Amino acid sequence: MNANLEGLIRSVADNDIQKAKQYIRIIIDEDKTQKNQYFCRAIRNKLQVSSQNLIELPQDIKGILLMEDVSISFNENRYYLSEREEAIANEVLGMYETSKKLSEMGIQYLNSLMLYGESGTGKTLFGKYLAYKLELPFAYMNFSNAINQYLGGTGKNISKAFEFIEKQKCVFMLDEVDTIGMKRGKEDVGEMARIVIGLMQALDCVKNDTVIVGATNRLDMIDLALRRRFSLAHEVKRLSKEEMYLMITRFLNDVSIKYSEEDIKKYCEYPNTQAITLNDVVRAIVKSIRTNSDFTLTGGKEIA
Ligand SMILES: Nc1ncnc2c1ncn2[C@@H]1O[C@H](COP(=O)(O)OP(=O)(O)OP(=O)(O)O)[C@@H](O)[C@H]1O
Ligand SMILES: [Mg+2]
Repeated sequence: MNANLEGLIRSVADNDIQKAKQYIRIIIDEDKTQKNQYFCRAIRNKLQVSSQNLIELPQDIKGILLMEDVSISFNENRYYLSEREEAIANEVLGMYETSKKLSEMGIQYLNSLMLYGESGTGKTLFGKYLAYKLELPFAYMNFSNAINQYLGGTGKNISKAFEFIEKQKCVFMLDEVDTIGMKRGKEDVGEMARIVIGLMQALDCVKNDTVIVGATNRLDMIDLALRRRFSLAHEVKRLSKEEMYLMITRFLNDVSIKYSEEDIKKYCEYPNTQAITLNDVVRAIVKSIRTNSDFTLTGGKEIA
């Protein structure tokens, strides 16, 4: 039995499906025998199909939480990491290691980061990047959806989600957390206030091996007591022209599209959010494929 097979068996025994998949990928990549080639290709494709990257959750938690295996779905070659985000990622990664030691000493520590900033600057994607770097599954709960869908049941659903992640170490993203984090004592005295208190109590019980990432574009709307549960707060901003250029060219290089540097530089004269920029790039790729012509990036304009 070689080390990879041993690793696979250990991961299955530990119920660690992510690790098991990683070992399977290594094993099939290493197998160059003729007789297994079709089998290996089929398994490789299966591991790559995006729907397979969503981890199956128990029935009672489906629809509340999403769980993604970012070791498969996150493409680091297409992700531009600015120096600002790199610094904060290092902070979180370092704290994760420290908190494991704290745990051995019996000290509970909430490893938590609040991301804020305008829409489309890459907050959710940065949460996935952290999970990818920490080699943990990415658990995702969107509070705006949760409130719209379940109204009165929101508090109970939050508890269920936290009960679930207690058994599964992960990066747990609480997206659009301002929807429930609204300042207590204003328009939402009753139900919302109870939900916020429930969330804070749940956060206080999170184990050291889970990282909590909150995201919002309205930091000012979040209750101060809830904000204090997050040990770090970081603003995700629009990229500078130079950074935008690097993000676009990184993406284009990864998909092997030829481009004119001048063309991209001109586009970057207009600061846009990362989401709009990537959208323009993909649209330009579509156009070049459909018209069978060279890739040209136009349409950059200032968005208020
Ligand atoms: N650093 C980055 N590198 C590459 N692409 C990025 C980056 N940041 C954002 N993008 C692109 O922008 C899209 C939107 O990012 P994301 O959904 O993370 O933004 P957001 O800040 O969470 O927005 P919202 O506040 O509306 O939820 C991504 O799907 C990706 O295409
Ligand atoms: Mg988002």
